[in-house]
Amino acid sequence: MGQNTFDPNTDVPDLTGKVYVVTGGSAGIGFGIVAHLLQHNPAKIFLLSNKIEHGEDAVQELKKWGDTNLVEWKNCNLLSLKETDEVAKDLKHLEQMDALICNAGEGVGNYKNSDDGIDSHFQVNHLAQMHLALTVLPILQKTPNSRLVVQSSELHRMAPKSTAFASASEINEEDIGASSLYSRSKLAQVLFVKALLRRMEQGEVGGGGSSSSSSGSSRSGIPFMNATHPGAIVTDQQDQAVEAYGTLGKIGVAAVRPFMSDPVKKGCRSALFAATSEDVVKENIQGQYIVPDRKIDTPSDRSQDTQLQDRLWKLSEQLLESKLGVLSWKKPARNFKNLSTQT
Ligand SMILES: NC(=O)c1ccc[n+]([C@@H]2O[C@H](COP(=O)([O-])OP(=O)(O)OC[C@H]3O[C@@H](n4cnc5c(N)ncnc54)[C@H](OP(=O)(O)O)[C@@H]3O)[C@@H](O)[C@H]2O)c1
Repeated sequence: MGQNTFDPNTDVPDLTGKVYVVTGGSAGIGFGIVAHLLQHNPAKIFLLSNKIEHGEDAVQELKKWGDTNLVEWKNCNLLSLKETDEVAKDLKHLEQMDALICNAGEGVGNYKNSDDGIDSHFQVNHLAQMHLALTVLPILQKTPNSRLVVQSSELHRMAPKSTAFASASEINEEDIGASSLYSRSKLAQVLFVKALLRRMEQGEVGGGGSSSSSSGSSRSGIPFMNATHPGAIVTDQQDQAVEAYGTLGKIGVAAVRPFMSDPVKKGCRSALFAATSEDVVKENIQGQYIVPDRKIDTPSDRSQDTQLQDRLWKLSEQLLESKLGVLSWKKPARNFKNLSTQT
């Protein structure tokens, strides 16, 4: 294996003609991702986030990195599935999408309900972005060597042992604690990538289905999809931990901050590698968990548990259906497929 370095200034290839969608591109690591994409001449970047002031500031700040006429900010509050659905349907009209980078996230923080009455960590970090990804999947599928990048965290390993993704009431249990809420949502993100890949390979999700050619590659109409961890990075997320844990949080954050890295210089590397590097195609890096800069690491045993993957999928589908009705990306059940030919 080669070196574990990926310098976004020099190792992101020329992106002429390419189209990117980045959630949470207004601040922290997501801003670093958008800045470096812009630096390498893409055709278009859609930057999705919630707070208008962050979006406006980001676009101003991006002027240092390239032509901001190529950047379109879209207001997408992931706390609202309806709003997410509208943005997703809008993006579905694009001709191509070279990568969807699902980076937006709530950090370690207190329990609150989303607009849909669901734990906000689960919804913002996993559920709403799962719906976004699956809605635009046809565009990713028709774009050669496209990527789906899901920004998880090493903290996915710390999800509570009791996590089963068995019911909505389990997700909405308020008192599991700020760290557990975050870790559980980060585990969900790694599980999602693996569950989606398995479903696409089996032809259960997405057009085109599986192919006998090299498993998991974009040649079979399956985008390269990977989960990433960005490293320990100084961003606004630490303020959320301070809010959740008060003085204790303040002491903890003050202790670790000196060892944390810069979001623009360092925090964006694993996601940018997954989203842009030609090595992902050459080395068929598919369904993996990538840590800085570009190292494939083994995620937790639980993230590889196919039963847990399936339960998360089923629960997520149920929650989305109950809030949004019929899901455009869900294929009808196959049980009755051949009835008309069985006379
Ligand atoms: N920082 C770290 O050390 C670290 C470590 C491991 C993993 N991560 C992961 O990396 C990702 C980025 O984190 P960060 O540290 O850069 O955080 P950050 O500075 O707090 O930025 C979070 C981004 O997510 C967006 N976001 C939050 N809630 C949203 C909502 N309801 N709807 C739409 N967008 C929303 C924010 O947009 P608004 O400004 O509009 O709210 C912002 O752009 C997260 O998924 C995080 O879990 C970070």
